[in-house]
Parts: sequence; C-alpha cells; structure tokens
Amino acid sequence: MGGHNPGIKLLDKDGKRIDGRGLYDLRPIKMEIGVLKKADGSAYLEWGGNKVMAAVYGPKPVMPRHLANPYKAVLMYRYNMAPFSVDDRKRPGPDRRSIEISKISRDALERIVMTEYFPNTMIEIFVEILQADAGTRCAALTAASLALADAGIPMRDLVAACAAGKIDGKVALDLKKEEDNYGESDMPLAISPRTGDILLFQMDGLLTKEEYLESLHLALEGAKKVSEMQKKALKDKYKIETLGGEDDKV
Ligand code: CDP
Repeated sequence: MGGHNPGIKLLDKDGKRIDGRGLYDLRPIKMEIGVLKKADGSAYLEWGGNKVMAAVYGPKPVMPRHLANPYKAVLMYRYNMAPFSVDDRKRPGPDRRSIEISKISRDALERIVMTEYFPNTMIEIFVEILQADAGTRCAALTAASLALADAGIPMRDLVAACAAGKIDGKVALDLKKEEDNYGESDMPLAISPRTGDILLFQMDGLLTKEEYLESLHLALEGAKKVSEMQKKALKDKYKIETLGGEDDKV
C-alpha cells in the first residue's frame, strides 16, 4: 500500500478502472483441478494476472516425528513466490511476508480441515506463486482449498477468498497490482461460504467506518462468487451426475 499517488489515476472519467473493470467487478478467474501427477491433490488457478499452483500431500507420516499430535493431523502450509513472479526478481526462499501469509492461511484452513480424523499424520499444502499481480494470498488460499478437496481430505466447507479496497477515493473489489500499490486501502478476506464464518481478515491503509463496512461487504460478496466458481470447477472435474439428469442421457 504505497498511499495515494497523485501522478497515477486509477479511475477514468467514466469511473472505469485501469483494466476496464467497474468498481464491483472481479478479475477473470480460471480454475483447474488435479493438474499434478505426483501430488495427492492439486489445483492451478489464474486470477487476473495471478498464476498460482497448489499441491497437497498427505495425510502422511509426520516429519520431524516429535511434531506429531495424537489427537489430530498437523497442517503445514507453505506460500512461496517464484523469483520470476514479480517485476524485480524476488530473492528465493522465505521472507517475513511469506512466513506471515503461510501462518494466517494455515490458521484459516485449520478451522476447515477435519484434522481430527487423521491423528499422528501431517497434511502438507504448498502454494507456488508463479506470477503475481496483487491478491495472491487470496488466490493461494482459494487454490489450496481446491487442492485439498482434490486430495479427498474431509473438510467442513471450502475456503473462498477475495479482497476489496479503496482506489481514488472509491471502494472497489479485487485490486490489481497498481491499485494495490497506489490505492488507499486493501482488505483481504477468506470465508467459509456455508456458515459465513470469516477465516482470514486483514487490512492495509485507512478507511472511514462507512468505507470499512462497504469494503467488508464487497469482499464478502466477492468471496461468495469465488466459492460458486470453486463448486462448479469441482463438479465439472468429477462430473457429479444426478440420476435422470441431463448428463445421464446417452
Ligand atoms: O499478493 P497480496 O495482495 O496477497 O500481498 P501484498 O503483500 O499486498 O502484495 C501485493 C503485490 O505486490 C503482490 O501480489 C505482488 O504483485 C507485489 N509484490 C512484489 O512485487 N514483490 C514482493 N516481494 C511482494 C509483493
């Protein structure tokens, strides 16, 4: 969040954004499930300029063994940005930002994954950001949740995420890089769509109380749309057919 930059206009005279979107539009999203052979579950997600690969391994023996929990599976989440994912080459390996994102994403999934079914095991979730254009923590969690479902890991719900923020004085959905950099605020959110529980919530920059509520509402609506896309992607992948439905006709 670089604060407002008077040199860069993020909204044109018709109120359109730099990529032509309206204030309440999501960027185009594409989801692909089961793309990696070696992983137990995987998903590839494109969300605007973000390209994200998620892989899930487990439940498997815990390494190192002393971390094993006799009551539940240990969840491990690694968010990693590829060196070529951003404009300036990113130094490989974990940094403060990726450690923070990994922790809060893990904590969000801990509330959803039924870890109690798999004591003394671990479930590893890796998310690689191949190309970044803001909103990567939301894209990563959304992909991770699909990869967990693909791995057949029991979950109370899917996790759907989306951010909202403020650009040129207006609340807007799903900021892209320039909007995140030169806008006034960014608010990433992840929910359990079934219960509406908020699993991850952060905020950068400044908002009035009204803007805060509007932004929260917008991010929630965005996450619900993302969750519908997740359900469709999973159904398409596994071709869930209803008896006597259109799909059953030969
Ligand atoms: O990606 P997200 O919005 O969840 O996190 P952020 O910390 O607000 O980062 C916003 C964007 O800044 C990223 O998506 C990248 O496009 C960019 N970024 C970068 O260029 N270099 C970094 N080391 C970290 C982030």
